[in-house]
Amino acid sequence: MFPKCWNFIIISVLLSLQLVDGQPFDYPTANLSTTWINSVSANHSVDFTDRSKVRAILLRGTFGPRYACGFFCNGTCDSYLFAIFIVQTNSVSYIVMPSSGFPQVVWSANRNNPVKINATLQLTSGGDLVLRDTDGTLVWSTNTTGRSVVGLNLTEEGNLVLFDMNNLVVWQSFDHPTDALVPGQKLASGQKLTASVSITNSTEGGLFSMFVNNEGLFAAVKANPPQIYYQQLVDNTKANKESSYAKFQNGSLALYIHSSEPRDPDSVITLPPISSAQYMKLGSDGHLRLYEWADGWKEVFDILTGYLGDCNYPTVCGENGICSNGQCSCPRSVNASMNYFTQINGRHPNLGCSEITPLNCNASRYHNFLELEDMTYFTFNADITSTNMDSCKQACLGNCSCKAAIFRYGSNSSNGDCYLPAQIFSLMNNEQGKTHYNSSVFMKVQITPNASAPAKTSPKGTPSLVILGYAIAAFILFAVLIGLTICIIRKKRLAREVEEGDLDNVPGMPTRFPFEDLKVATANFSKKLGEGGFGSVFEGSLRDGTKVAVKCLDGIGQVKKSFLAEVESIGSIHHVNLVRLVGFCAEKSHRLLVYEFMSNGSLEKWIYRQGQEIVLDWKCRRKIVLDIAKGLTYLHEDCRQKIIHLDIKPQNILLDDKFNAKLSDFGLSKLIDRDQSQVVTTMRGTPGYLAPEWLSAVITEKVDVYSFGVVVLEILCGRKIVDRSEPEERMHLLSLFKQKAEEGKLMDMIDQYSEDMQSNREDVVKMMHVAAWCLQSDHASRPSMSVVVKVLEGVMDAETNLDYGFERPSISSTSISQVGSEEVTALIPSVLSGPR
Ligand SMILES: *[C@@H]1O[C@H](CO)[C@@H](O)[C@H](O)[C@H]1NC(C)=O
Ligand SMILES: *[C@@H]1O[C@H](CO)[C@@H](O)[C@H](O)[C@H]1NC(C)=O
Ligand SMILES: *[C@@H]1O[C@H](CO)[C@@H](O)[C@H](O)[C@H]1NC(C)=O
Ligand SMILES: *[C@@H]1O[C@H](CO)[C@@H](O)[C@H](O)[C@H]1NC(C)=O
Ligand SMILES: *[C@@H]1O[C@H](CO)[C@@H](O)[C@H](O)[C@H]1NC(C)=O
Ligand SMILES: *[C@@H]1O[C@H](CO)[C@@H](O)[C@H](O)[C@H]1NC(C)=O
Ligand SMILES: *[C@@H]1O[C@H](CO)[C@@H](O)[C@H](O)[C@H]1NC(C)=O
Ligand SMILES: *[C@@H]1O[C@H](CO)[C@@H](O)[C@H](O)[C@H]1NC(C)=O
Ligand SMILES: *[C@@H]1O[C@H](CO)[C@@H](O)[C@H](O)[C@H]1NC(C)=O
Ligand SMILES: *[C@@H]1O[C@H](CO)[C@@H](O)[C@H](O)[C@H]1NC(C)=O
Ligand SMILES: *[C@@H]1O[C@H](CO)[C@@H](O)[C@H](O)[C@H]1NC(C)=O
Ligand SMILES: *[C@@H]1O[C@H](CO)[C@@H](O)[C@H](O)[C@H]1NC(C)=O
Repeated sequence: MFPKCWNFIIISVLLSLQLVDGQPFDYPTANLSTTWINSVSANHSVDFTDRSKVRAILLRGTFGPRYACGFFCNGTCDSYLFAIFIVQTNSVSYIVMPSSGFPQVVWSANRNNPVKINATLQLTSGGDLVLRDTDGTLVWSTNTTGRSVVGLNLTEEGNLVLFDMNNLVVWQSFDHPTDALVPGQKLASGQKLTASVSITNSTEGGLFSMFVNNEGLFAAVKANPPQIYYQQLVDNTKANKESSYAKFQNGSLALYIHSSEPRDPDSVITLPPISSAQYMKLGSDGHLRLYEWADGWKEVFDILTGYLGDCNYPTVCGENGICSNGQCSCPRSVNASMNYFTQINGRHPNLGCSEITPLNCNASRYHNFLELEDMTYFTFNADITSTNMDSCKQACLGNCSCKAAIFRYGSNSSNGDCYLPAQIFSLMNNEQGKTHYNSSVFMKVQITPNASAPAKTSPKGTPSLVILGYAIAAFILFAVLIGLTICIIRKKRLAREVEEGDLDNVPGMPTRFPFEDLKVATANFSKKLGEGGFGSVFEGSLRDGTKVAVKCLDGIGQVKKSFLAEVESIGSIHHVNLVRLVGFCAEKSHRLLVYEFMSNGSLEKWIYRQGQEIVLDWKCRRKIVLDIAKGLTYLHEDCRQKIIHLDIKPQNILLDDKFNAKLSDFGLSKLIDRDQSQVVTTMRGTPGYLAPEWLSAVITEKVDVYSFGVVVLEILCGRKIVDRSEPEERMHLLSLFKQKAEEGKLMDMIDQYSEDMQSNREDVVKMMHVAAWCLQSDHASRPSMSVVVKVLEGVMDAETNLDYGFERPSISSTSISQVGSEEVTALIPSVLSGPR
């Protein structure tokens, strides 16, 4: 032992690690009748340089980041938690590195009731785990007396378990999560993560919580009723399971709402894969952050921000504050001389705004509204639907607890929805093109009886004038400098540098690759996988060996800011049926997108009989159709910003090694559009898959439903929509479909090369009816994608009163379409994909 110990000390010194007193241990379990005292002389007591201390009583494993449980304190250390934390250990299981490998608390028993020095933790002879403070008062207990507990086990996954004779779990810390999750842990329905009050106060009084129910995963801010600021919905049409849960696993936070392991999750939030140790924690600011050990703990991903954006966090600018590009301000009327709100703290605008004259329900006669146009709120829970703006405001005036009337509408402001929250957190601008609605916020304010406004200027008016003065001066100086700079550096180059400087990797967003790297990764763009409407796709392989598909976008070298904005928004969209964007490149005129690699290529390869040996069976085809439908439902209905794909066709549907189908190229139409045109003048999409309304009416997500119908038909019939190798009367699949439907001989159309398809004739024909429904000429008669999913899953019947007079839009790339403004977000086309 002695030489070994010396040996170790030498190694430690070499590694500049500090050895801490205490004996080697790997004590992951304990027997009944054991007592631990929170004393300075306790075994395995380590003081860290960030002023935190641990007294580990159990520790599992040797070497590297490891779970331990015991007493923990930070700062003044007059109070302690009984906690599970991750610490660094060496090969003989000392806790090491008190100067950098700070303990990370992932669970605690008594966050609301910390204990003092000399407190005791006891595993009683009756099998109860009991925490008592120094004076003997009971602080916490597992209440497991009489439940045949025989021991305590800190598992490999960081779960503290009381088990019985048969090694069955009687009680476990995983069932009582605090504000963190570790890999392998589930957040089940009925449980929730609750944020701490602040970084320094671990009391469970934070405003934020996360929970799972049979509709999905939610994050909410405390209010009456709670206001949801994040939701990952899973359609809840299927039979409910007893317990839904979200599971933190390698590379994802997976939602098992209707399905259970080992089946595929209903939805996943993609995370960076685990390379050493990870945990995620719901912060006191409402962010869910992922941390990883890499010679120190680092935040590696801000899980919800990619989806939400910074301004969607309820307290980003405090109560009543307005968040705009990360800056906070107070609501103001257009009349700058009259203010109803003032900053709570002039130096910290993010702490929010208070009413200058507080609302008084006894004087509701003097309630009025401060109108904020084009303003929106992170949540919208309509109290009144299909109403007009005035009724919405009246409803708010009539209810004293209403703090604001929030009105959302489409094109017609006399028909919208009204939300009357009793508490207002941060507001944000309703950015054009980011939402598919208009929104106005009317803040209820108290006016003084003898004047129309309570205050002429804000009490802190003077400092803000001074600040304004400085701002103007600074602005002028800045402008002069810019002017000079332009003289020195050529304008174009400057623009490029500003662009590239600005847009460095945003954490949690797709990786930005230098062009050179992608050139190397694709061996100078040598292996072409295919060609789409936006450019060519090449196979590549990143430094770490990950295979990727690199898409070179043609003709958008000028797209700058909007390219990054779109990449950010595409990169934040995660769904099992959507191809994941891994990264991008925007350098000089190069614009490339890096996608996950899909080993089975595009659907095109698999559904047309082209002499290939493998013919997909019915089960596989049905699954592919359902996958496409789910991906589209997500784009149309579940994304914060509705996305119309506009180019659904087999080439854009990719298959992974298990034949799971994923949509690619979504969001791209928008990317191209933003930059190039102001008005919609050309059709976009691919001839054959274009809905008839491209020639006339408003373009809605129903154009995707139509294209989906075409694809389904192709999958079932095993042929292209237009097949010039067929005799004239069979060349156009839709005409044939119409004819066979009228003759009642749809079965003739089923892929003749697949016996399996033939033996499932009835089901196939059923699906043909769904396709026919999607192909209705009148876009309003087509089902929404979520309805299609329901029908495919058998929880709903398809419409039977169908019109088989399918109209084919004439194929001319110069057609002009007039597009209305209603509810159209992902538009403004320019290019037609090449016909196949
Ligand atoms: C618990 O008891 C068992 C059998 O009595 C013994 O083998 C084991 O070493 C004990 N464990 C600890 C951690 O004391
Ligand atoms: C330290 O550990 C030893 C062996 O596990 C145990 O006998 C002793 O009671 C412990 N000391 C304290 C203060 O907990
Ligand atoms: C201890 O508190 C300090 C600030 O008070 C903080 O920076 C540090 O991360 C905390 N340490 C742990 C292990 O929580
Ligand atoms: C804790 O207990 C030890 C030994 O019983 C005693 O010496 C010490 O003063 C106690 N500390 C406190 C803070 O009560
Ligand atoms: C144990 O029981 C007490 C009293 O019934 C209760 O207050 C406490 O929350 C329970 N503890 C746990 C961990 O469930
Ligand atoms: C403790 O948990 C580990 C898994 O981490 C398991 O392998 C072991 O069997 C458990 N020990 C007891 C005594 O239950
Ligand atoms: C922590 O927050 C709680 C709730 O807000 C408060 O009661 C408590 O005093 C705070 N503790 C510290 C140490 O600041
Ligand atoms: C997590 O998955 C990645 C690949 O996706 C793999 O390289 C890594 O080893 C896995 N980590 C663990 C801890 O299993
Ligand atoms: C702004 O001021 C004008 C007169 O200067 C007044 O008529 C109008 O009502 C004011 N608007 C608000 C929102 O206070
Ligand atoms: C409103 O009136 C009630 C009774 O008339 C009184 O108790 C209360 O204090 C008043 N509230 C305010 C804010 O003035
Ligand atoms: C707006 O909707 C209202 C009520 O639904 C209707 O009466 C009115 O004609 C519509 N206005 C326009 C411009 O469509
Ligand atoms: C007033 O508004 C609150 C909160 O929005 C709501 O709970 C309450 O039911 C409303 N009261 C009436 C009478 O509508």
